[in-house]
Amino acid sequence: MPVIAEIEDLRRLYRRRTPRMFFDYAESGSWSEQTFRENTSDFAHLRLRQRVAVDMSNRSTASTMIGQDVAMPVALAPVGLTGMQCADGEIKAARAAEKFGVPFTLSTLSICSIEDVAAHTSKPFWFQVYTLKDEEFMRRLFDRARAANCAAIVLTLDLQVLGQRHKDLRNGLSAPPKLTLKSIANMMTKVQWGLGMLGTRRRFFGNVVGHAKGVTDPASLSAWTAEAFDETLDWDRVRQFRDMWGGKFIIKGILDVEDAQKAADLGVDAIVVSNHGGRQLDGAMSSIRMLPRIVDAVGDRVEVHMDSGIRSGQDVLKALSLGAHGTYIGRAFTYGLGAMGEAGVTRALQIIHKELDTTMALCGERDVHNLGPQNLIVPQGFDDPTMRL
Ligand SMILES: Cc1cc2nc3c(=O)[nH]c(=O)nc-3n(C[C@H](O)[C@H](O)[C@H](O)COP(=O)(O)O)c2cc1C
Repeated sequence: MPVIAEIEDLRRLYRRRTPRMFFDYAESGSWSEQTFRENTSDFAHLRLRQRVAVDMSNRSTASTMIGQDVAMPVALAPVGLTGMQCADGEIKAARAAEKFGVPFTLSTLSICSIEDVAAHTSKPFWFQVYTLKDEEFMRRLFDRARAANCAAIVLTLDLQVLGQRHKDLRNGLSAPPKLTLKSIANMMTKVQWGLGMLGTRRRFFGNVVGHAKGVTDPASLSAWTAEAFDETLDWDRVRQFRDMWGGKFIIKGILDVEDAQKAADLGVDAIVVSNHGGRQLDGAMSSIRMLPRIVDAVGDRVEVHMDSGIRSGQDVLKALSLGAHGTYIGRAFTYGLGAMGEAGVTRALQIIHKELDTTMALCGERDVHNLGPQNLIVPQGFDDPTMRL
């Protein structure tokens, strides 16, 4: 068994163990992948301020996200098709998150259904919804989330139309995977993955097939997805969704100060500064560079969370120091899941926690709540989208 010291080790193992089509699905951004790359590389422009001879005993990473206690302010982001990265993937990831004490967010486009994840976990999870045209389907989704005791809705606003990812087109991505000579040849080399998939009945989009009008099988599903997203969405409609749910409500996919202000005006519980991990608008700014301005504009009115590009506990610390109240990881836990199932997600969380804790100590901080601009050296123009770094 190779030594797993950092998230990159999990990524390498994941690449070896998972069919190419699903590895590529996670490990890509839209078009030229500029935003996907800059989401991670921009973190490196932020330097940490080393402090010495300060009491660094009794450290704590414990915090809250939307009023919920968390072992560290790092939630698992909604990731579609998680159950294709590893059999029963959503259940495994949710269990790892629950044991670790961080929130798990289930995607609308998951393989395991809301009910299935609820039946195999014991703590309320969060449920992510897309803004779909089908009113009845949306209402039923909220009802199902309520019945499953979900603690919050995460409404994703940055995917009304789909950003193109070239690799998915070339690979003919689908769930379950289309059987072509190329995909069969590749899958035959992924024995553990294949055995897992043979041993589960969860191979379709569990929240959609059998629930959306006219979607009874995987073939009708692709027609539905092409039509389902609501291109006419506006803030009134967002308000309707918030009222339809009535509980804790998080808006995901904010990258602009004006949009952040509109979201804060709605009185939601949190916003997530995010560009969907560089999978939607290629050429958009990295989340970490947009974070400070958004915190400045609305941080006193709404909890500001951020994701996109986090690959280490040091990245988490940088985001918190720039004012994020919480963070999310998407790919970092997906690598762990594809590499080692539930144990891999746990390992990803342990790695990030240890890096966060040790970095806090070396920065002379004992409590995650005390992190702030004093812990960073920020290059001039970092938070100015018109400046090149
Ligand atoms: C493979 C994959 C699938 C995703 N599916 C969804 C989804 O179904 N809903 C959603 O709101 N965001 C989705 N996202 C975006 C994530 O929630 C999150 O914003 C992103 O992964 C953060 O960037 P990171 O992967 O660099 O951590 C997906 C991301 C990936 C990598």
